[in-house]
Formats: sequence, structure tokens, C-alpha cells
Amino acid sequence: MKKQDTKLVHSGSYPEKQGGSVNPPIYHASTVSKPSVAALEIARQEPDADFMYGRHGTPTSRAFEETVAALEGGEKCVAVGSGLSAITTAMLAFVKQGDHVLVCDNAYSPTRNFSEKFLKRFGVETTYYDPFIGTEIKRHFQDNTKVIYTESPGSHSFEIQDIPAIAEQCHKSEIKVVMDNTWSAGYFFKPFNHGVDVSVQAATKYYVGHSDAMLGAVTTKAEDFAAIRDSARILGYHAAPDDAYLGLRGMRTLASRLKRHEKNALIVADWLKTRPEVHTLLHPAFPSCPGHQIWKRDFTGSSGLFSILLNEYSGDAVAAMIDGLELFALGGSWGGYESLVWRTQLTRSATKWDSAKPCIRLHVGLEDPDDLIADLTEGLNRLNNFS
Ligand SMILES: Cc1ncc(COP(=O)(O)O)c(C=O)c1O
Repeated sequence: MKKQDTKLVHSGSYPEKQGGSVNPPIYHASTVSKPSVAALEIARQEPDADFMYGRHGTPTSRAFEETVAALEGGEKCVAVGSGLSAITTAMLAFVKQGDHVLVCDNAYSPTRNFSEKFLKRFGVETTYYDPFIGTEIKRHFQDNTKVIYTESPGSHSFEIQDIPAIAEQCHKSEIKVVMDNTWSAGYFFKPFNHGVDVSVQAATKYYVGHSDAMLGAVTTKAEDFAAIRDSARILGYHAAPDDAYLGLRGMRTLASRLKRHEKNALIVADWLKTRPEVHTLLHPAFPSCPGHQIWKRDFTGSSGLFSILLNEYSGDAVAAMIDGLELFALGGSWGGYESLVWRTQLTRSATKWDSAKPCIRLHVGLEDPDDLIADLTEGLNRLNNFS
């Protein structure tokens, strides 16, 4: 079995089929013609083995899917147009009117929107649960519970969930475990070794890696693949050819980029934790982060995204700190080469969140960490000097 850095470089690569080019061509396709009725029949019978129509995928998106599946450790992957469509593909694959889903209280807010503004309209009820619930998740099971949605760590508040404990309980009741695994990029956490049934990636983040494309990926074990593929197809979701290509291209250098994001983020976080303005460091690799012990047990590293809770400063002081940053752009995405800052506001219904302490999320990019620390030092000076 090849190591993951090798898989990232070689999966989905077929130079012999493309004139020796190591990268696949970008197939811009709607029509896919067939040489005969017999060939059409084969494509109908084996939808994953052949190509039928641009929306159902091309050799470009297939190469990306193969690489994601190899990295995540699942058997099959479906590429879609964004991380959010990957989430909705996964949830809709397993629910019908009258069903119930469990969603972690720290979920990415558009996932909550999807539950409240969409699933609810179609008669699917949601219960939010404490991300630290572990085996006690069983208290929330109902006869009609079909899916549990997990996001570990939460992408703003960084709670690490006990996925194996949750999955063990869920599987006793035939509940599918869906995980948003974007933070680890499938590199630092292997979802299928920990009981996850469907792993979702906002490939927009670390896979694309250059902040220039929207892309999502849903990876499963073989037994759930037909449900996932049909969900994406019925919804009309697909990955645009250029974006699938950019996702694959980004994955070829993912290992080295991620290791640098990890190193830089650890340096910046280590410095921030010594600063008197910082109340709590929410970075899973540090003991101050809730769930740190589980991170140590289940993850092999950390990426470039974490948060800090400041002491109680006014909103204007925090704005002055953020607005003057030179290297950290104010942006809601992450996973690209560049550093970003975000002023987080959280919604909670099953747990409590102390919003008196301003929460700031940082994505630490590939710049020199000394320059990033100098920029943040100036920012903290503005915070202190604001009157
Ligand atoms: C944790 C997480 N999951 C999913 C998404 C959605 O991805 P996309 O923006 O590609 O729809 C995001 C986007 O910010 C995210 O942060």
C-alpha cells in the first residue's frame, strides 16, 4: 500500500491514455457521443464505468474523484460544484419526509441554514447536539433518525468530536455518519478508519489551495456510493471541468503546502498564546482547545486554520485591529496560499457560547511567519491603543 504523499502525486494519473501528458486534459463536455446502441446500453448499465453526459462527469472530474477517494481512504467519490453542495448531496442521499437528522451545534452555518430553511420545509426534522456528546449521542436517537452530521473540528470554534464513539452508537441504530472533514483535508484524519460513512470536503479550500475555484467532494464506502451518486445526479450537481482540474492540480502539491500551513500556524499560535490580549487559543494541537486529547488520539497533524478568543474589547477596537492588517485579508474562506482573518459570529442552540469575548479566526498562509507575527503585533497594538 502506497503512502499518502505518493497517492497524492500519482492517483488518477493515466499519461498513457493522454499522449504522455502527466496531467489530464480538461474535458469541456456536455454531449458525450457513443459509437453504437450497444455501447450506449453498456454506459446505461454501468454508470460509473463509462461516460454518458457532461453533467455526470468526464475523465477530468474522474481523475480528481479518484485522487480524493485515495486520500480520504474511501472507495468512491463524487465531485460537485462546491463544499456546500457536497454537504447537501450527502444529507439528501439518506432522508425522506418524516425523518430526523442530528446536526452538531458547531456546524458551518450554511449547514444549519440548509436544515432550517430547506430540510424542514420537506418534513425532515433536525436536532442540534453538543459536539462533545460522545456516546451520549444515543439519548437523541429517535426511531426516524437517519443521519448524523459531524464537523470536527468545528471550523470556527474548533471542538474536536469523538467520532469513533459517536459512530459506534449510530451504527447500532443504522444511522449514517456524515462528516465535514475539510479542516484535516483528509490528510490528517482518516474518516473511514474512525467509523464515518460519508466524508465531505469543501475542496474549495485546501485541495484547490489557490483561492480561485469552487469545488466539493463526497467520498463513501462502496455500499453507500449509489445513494450518493444518485443524490448528486438527481439534484443536477456536478463539478465544472476547469474547477475539477484545478482541484486535482492543487492536490498534487497538497502534502507540502499543508505541512507548511501546519508549521506556520503552530508558530503563530504559539506566539499568540503568550499575548496578554488573548484569552483562549482555539487550536486543536494546543491543550487549551476543547477536544485536544481526542485530536491527539485520532489526528496526525493540524492545518492552518484556528481561532482566538480575545479578552473583552469593544467591537470598534477589534475592527481597528483587523482593518489595519496588511497580510491577513478579511475573508470568509480559507485553505488558499494566503493568510486570512475573519471576525466570527456564532449561532448556538444546544450549547452556550460566550460572545463577550471577541472570536477571531485566522487562516495562516504560506508567508514567512515572522512577517505574519509582525503584522499581528501591529494589530494588537491598535487593539490596545484604541480609545
Ligand atoms: C467547514 C466548511 N465546510 C463547508 C464549506 C462550504 O464550502 P464551499 O464554500 O465550497 O461551498 C465551508 C466554506 O467556507 C467550510 O468552511
